[in-house]
Amino acid sequence: MTRILVTGASGLLGLNFALTYSRRHQVTGVVNAHSLTGAPFQVLNADLAKPGSIGEILDRVKPDVVLHCAALANVDQCERQPELALRLNTDLPEEVARATADRGIVLVHISTDAVFDGKTGRYTEESQPNPLGAYARTKLAAEHAVLQAYPEALIARVNFYGWSLGGQRSLAEFFFNHLSAGTPVRGFTDVFFCPLEVTVLAETLMQLVEAHCSGIYHVVSGECLSKYEFGCAVARRFGLDEGLIQPVSVHEGGLLAARSPDLRLRTDKLAGVLGSPAPDQETSMQRFFELYQAGHPQQLRALALGVDSHISG
Ligand SMILES: NC(=O)c1ccc[n+]([C@@H]2O[C@H](COP(=O)([O-])OP(=O)(O)OC[C@H]3O[C@@H](n4cnc5c(N)ncnc54)[C@H](OP(=O)(O)O)[C@@H]3O)[C@@H](O)[C@H]2O)c1
Repeated sequence: MTRILVTGASGLLGLNFALTYSRRHQVTGVVNAHSLTGAPFQVLNADLAKPGSIGEILDRVKPDVVLHCAALANVDQCERQPELALRLNTDLPEEVARATADRGIVLVHISTDAVFDGKTGRYTEESQPNPLGAYARTKLAAEHAVLQAYPEALIARVNFYGWSLGGQRSLAEFFFNHLSAGTPVRGFTDVFFCPLEVTVLAETLMQLVEAHCSGIYHVVSGECLSKYEFGCAVARRFGLDEGLIQPVSVHEGGLLAARSPDLRLRTDKLAGVLGSPAPDQETSMQRFFELYQAGHPQQLRALALGVDSHISG
């Protein structure tokens, strides 16, 4: 049994990762503003922005592996609060990297597909990043800082969706919530990405850890699609009306932070480790649907509300 420390354990990825592995491994999750009641793993409350706090936690928990998910992941908030973005998205990962390197702990640092400007797509791990906004700049700076402090760290550039604590964190929840309510929404036809359902991502990350991978990996789906097509896929899987999704250009979106239009990443390096292609869209969406049928969204909601949740890992 491996001791795993997950930062950002109230977030979309951290929470689903912690739940996925809470039975098979000894998991501790760090949360800050959102506490979790009745979680099937140990929960620590800490403000990781406080210098030295990660070192104290590592000395207390003594994990074998750290999955560092804590971040300021809201791209518009990063534009509004660039200093906080720098603190959480660059300085903190550097501290985590130093602290884990000093203690010989395996580190998985979560980065983003958004380090690329999205002008060409088909990016490999060797392609030149060119971040467009504060979020992406601070995440790219973290990649450099982490690798400098801890060259053996694994850096996963990801994009994912799934069921979240508050029920509104991911793009899939956005489409599901609106379409279920019969509300029309817009879907960008000219923004491309390769998202993975978050528990499929969690399993893929674990495979990389077990294979002792280090350096940068694109951990996304082997299949890419537009955000409009993604919305239609959600609608079809849940039997909702895809006619409610209006196909529009991102230029009509009125978004604050610039979005990279073509984030189709190559996954050959990942596939080489897995010994098979990166997970496809059908597999991912089917998992999202099955978790819904199993009552996963309500179970997450119960953790946030502090009622008996009956969650198992
Ligand atoms: N969502 C995506 O599609 C996506 C795409 C690419 C990359 N990523 C990356 O994936 C990682 C996880 O993203 P996510 O979407 O799961 O994040 P999220 O849902 O926004 O959650 C962020 C997590 O960070 C924690 N956190 C923030 N400030 C903290 C602080 N000062 N001290 C301790 N914890 C703090 C939050 O804890 P509290 O809420 O308890 O304060 C929360 O658990 C991030 O590195 C993000 O950049 C995400």
